[in-house]
Amino acid sequence: MGGDLVIYFSLSGETERVANIIASNYNATTIRVGTEDAGKRLLLARYFLRKLLNKPIVTIPKIYFPDYEKVYIGCPIWADSPAAPMTYFLKNTKLTEVELVPFVTHKTDSPHKALETLANLVRKQGGTVLSTHAFKKGIPKDMILGELEGKQFRPEKTGDVDLGKFKN
Ligand SMILES: Cc1cc2nc3c(=O)[nH]c(=O)nc-3n(C[C@H](O)[C@H](O)[C@H](O)COP(=O)(O)O)c2cc1C
Repeated sequence: MGGDLVIYFSLSGETERVANIIASNYNATTIRVGTEDAGKRLLLARYFLRKLLNKPIVTIPKIYFPDYEKVYIGCPIWADSPAAPMTYFLKNTKLTEVELVPFVTHKTDSPHKALETLANLVRKQGGTVLSTHAFKKGIPKDMILGELEGKQFRPEKTGDVDLGKFKN
């Protein structure tokens, strides 16, 4: 068994920022769902067009899961659900005997439904969910890592970060 893996989808870069923070802290490999060269602004339109045409929406990376100990898996929330390309990836990926940590990035104060949907998708594919996490856009690095370690945060300056998640 090797180290950890971070699988993520990101349209505008926030989930990628979180994924890179997790990866550098846990010395994990990262895999991005969706093509690197896809024109970002066109991705949404392309997603819905291809869905209409019933064509594959994102390329599914082939991952040999036994190579990894723990798999962090994250995406943005779109319309109160996990972003569609991640949903598509999960529905096409078996996760039997894989231990995962699903996370979402979000803007509003109600990420819980989408996070639960993501976790349930992971379970449906056979994966074991170790913990789930929601990271509000712009959340600083130390709060991301503290949240993953299950620590409490009471910073003096709350800014626009959702502190509800940090209370026990
Ligand atoms: C089409 C679309 C729908 C969104 N819907 C929601 C939403 O329902 N709730 C929410 O909190 N944020 C929503 N957002 C904001 C993103 O979840 C948030 O900005 C996220 O951190 C972006 O991640 P990314 O930069 O990795 O793409 C939406 C963003 C887009 C583009």
